[in-house]
Parts: sequence; structure tokens; C-alpha cells
Amino acid sequence: MKSLISIMGLNVSEIDSLMALADDIIARPESYQDAMRRKKLGSLFFEPSTRTRLSFEAAMLELGGQVLGFSEGMSSSAAKGESVADTIKTVSCYVDIIAMRHPKEGAPLVAANNATVPVINAGDGGHNHPTQTLADLFTIHREKGRLDNLTVGVCGDLKFGRTVHSLLEAMSRYAGLRFVLISPEELKVPSYVKQHLKHNAIPYDQTESLAEALPELDILYMTRVQKERFFNEADYIRLKDSYILTPAKLENAKKDLAIMHPLPRVNEISVQIDKDPRAVYFKQVLNGKLMRMALILMLMEATK
Ligand code: NCD
Repeated sequence: MKSLISIMGLNVSEIDSLMALADDIIARPESYQDAMRRKKLGSLFFEPSTRTRLSFEAAMLELGGQVLGFSEGMSSSAAKGESVADTIKTVSCYVDIIAMRHPKEGAPLVAANNATVPVINAGDGGHNHPTQTLADLFTIHREKGRLDNLTVGVCGDLKFGRTVHSLLEAMSRYAGLRFVLISPEELKVPSYVKQHLKHNAIPYDQTESLAEALPELDILYMTRVQKERFFNEADYIRLKDSYILTPAKLENAKKDLAIMHPLPRVNEISVQIDKDPRAVYFKQVLNGKLMRMALILMLMEATK
């Protein structure tokens, strides 16, 4: 039985198949409305979530399935000290597939090792977020028509931002890419992610200056500073507004730039930019639901 713990658990052709499936769901939604009839998704969220949880749940409902679960760990027996392994062995008795978010890095892997149904990592601490990456890749595919030959800027909290880690890993498999990693010194990409880029011979630059990087970018992927991962509030306050994208700052950007953000946004993108046709972050939200539908279909097909 197949789970999705890291985006590297899907090869490029599986990602292509998922995108083709999502394109087909857009074209023929009625063909999928009973695909998960009598199937149940366990939605186990030990950390706050708006888009990821609700898009998984909407995805399962749109496929004709049902959903049960919890939206905070303290309402489960985790509050009494139950281990992830025991929770998952239990939930496996009730559902056909599980989406799980947890503050501890590696918890979804422990879950997958103890589950008798597929487990999807819906975000583990500051580590990975593979289904956000599926949303991001599908957005780039639809906006740019390709996933190769792009200059991609990622900006903000590259240290704790798990969506960035998964996105860089996933994109390192496409040809002709170049990354510009834009962050304050203290929030640089972890070395294991950089090793990954080096290993795949993907060129990248690191800079603190968004203004200098902007003119050459095809994609700008903004992220929020991850307050909940800081040990010390003073550091968060000092770093939280490191980058604020405003219409004035976009003056030197490409006309076909795609501005992305996994959301939630705090201050990093001025709301005035929402009207700019280059802003695609709310399209990412919809694309996330479509790719989660495709993923549920693929993982459930693999259990047959
Ligand atoms: C992200 C996450 O949870 O990592 N949100 C999301 O799932 N779209 C990004 C974030 O919280 O900053």
C-alpha cells in the first residue's frame, strides 16, 4: 500500500499523471463524483490548518466519499498521551485513507509505518509539505505550460517553510531550472535541501535582496515567516517583515511573472497585488483541491 510522505515518493511521470488527472477533473467533473463512494478519509490535524484540511475534506466529498477526523490534536487521545502509532492503528480500523498534519517532523512517516491504509503527509513541522507542492506544480503547469526552463525565486522563511523544502526538492528534477533563494541570513534554506540541489546540479544563488532578484524571475514564491517555529519571540518580531511585496516593487518585474504563495499571508504581499493578473495565489488554493482529488484517486487505485 502506497503512502505519500515526501514529494520524492512520487516520480516525475507520476506527477505528470496526477496533473493530467486534475486537468481531466476540471474538464469532466461529473465523471468523478462517485469515484470514492462508500470510502472514508480520516482527516487528522494536530496543527492548525485552513486550506490543507478543508481542501482534503472538500476533495473527498466531491469524489462522493465521506470524512471523519479532528482539527486539533488536543481533541484526540494525543492529549492523554497516546502515541502517533497507536492513534494510527486505531484510525486505520475506521477509514480507507488518512491525511495527517503534525508539528513533529517525521510523524507522518511513523504513521505510514503503522497504518494499514495509505497515509498522506499534510505537513510535518518545519520539514515537508508534499501536497502543497502538488498544488504549486500544477499551478506552474497551468500558468506557464511547463515545469522546466524557469528562473524561480523563493522568498521569506526558507529555513522553517516546509512548502519551500518540498518545492525545491520536487523541481530539482526538471531541466533548465535556476533558483534564487531570497532570505535573511538567519532564515536560509537548510543544508539538506541545498545538498539536494547540488546533487542534481541545479544552479542557485542566495541573496537577501528581493529588489535585485525580481527582474530576472519567471516565478516568485513568497512565504510567511513561520512564527510557530521560532524559539524566541524577539527574533520573530525582528524578522517578520523582512519582505513586503508592493505594487511599486513589482515595477521592474517581468510582465508574465507568476506570483505564488502557499498562504496564509500575513504581511508579505500587499493586498493591492491581489488585483494584479500576475497574482496566482488564490488559483493555487483551487489547484490544491484538484490535486488532492487526483492524489486520493491514485493512492486508492493502488490499494485495489
Ligand atoms: C503552509 C503550511 O502549512 O506549511 N500552509 C499551507 O498548507 N498552505 C504555509 C504556511 O503555513 O506558511
